[in-house]
Amino acid sequence: MEFLDLAKKRYSVRNYMDKKVDEELLMKILEAGRVAPTAKNYQPQKLLVVQSREGLEKLGKCARIYDAPLAIVVCADHEKTWVRPLDNKDFGDVDASIITDHMMLQATELGLGSVWVCYFKSDVLREEFELPKNLEPINILLLGYAAGDAKDPDRHGVERKSLEETVFYENFKQE
Ligand SMILES: Cc1cc2nc3c(=O)[nH]c(=O)nc-3n(C[C@H](O)[C@H](O)[C@H](O)COP(=O)(O)O)c2cc1C
Repeated sequence: MEFLDLAKKRYSVRNYMDKKVDEELLMKILEAGRVAPTAKNYQPQKLLVVQSREGLEKLGKCARIYDAPLAIVVCADHEKTWVRPLDNKDFGDVDASIITDHMMLQATELGLGSVWVCYFKSDVLREEFELPKNLEPINILLLGYAAGDAKDPDRHGVERKSLEETVFYENFKQE
């Protein structure tokens, strides 16, 4: 499938079948995250795979997880992130998000549903999973088999802003 078709096919799944994701598929998804680029190739990510009943219950205290059978908590290790010396901007969020996006699209290609979750109680997650201080949970990627109808791959005509609204050439002055 062409990349753009795959990207259009993906949608946020908030209703999952009661079916586990095979280890082989999980490994492919993790591999897609592993090869993602990171700032200065520092690879500051630490990924927590959660698929046990107890683990998912703990995660459910931090966020809505829509009965997904698998979650990957993507953390940035702030002892390993690249910090731009010019203004001390830490690129951990950016790195974690590129990795999350790679995994999400790989999951789509494998026929899995996913939803990217940032609305979570970071402090509760830290406590429940005993995260070391240097790790910041950035994204939770929920994965599993979608239940219900797939969203229309052509929905972006109305669900996304037009290029005219978001892309500028050479400067931001409006003609
Ligand atoms: C950074 C980020 C954070 C998000 N956080 C949540 C979330 O906490 N809960 C949720 O249900 N969806 C979350 N989403 C999913 C978005 O709401 C969704 O991608 C967007 O509405 C577009 O819909 P689509 O994914 O179906 O194309 C998040 C997506 C991104 C990229």
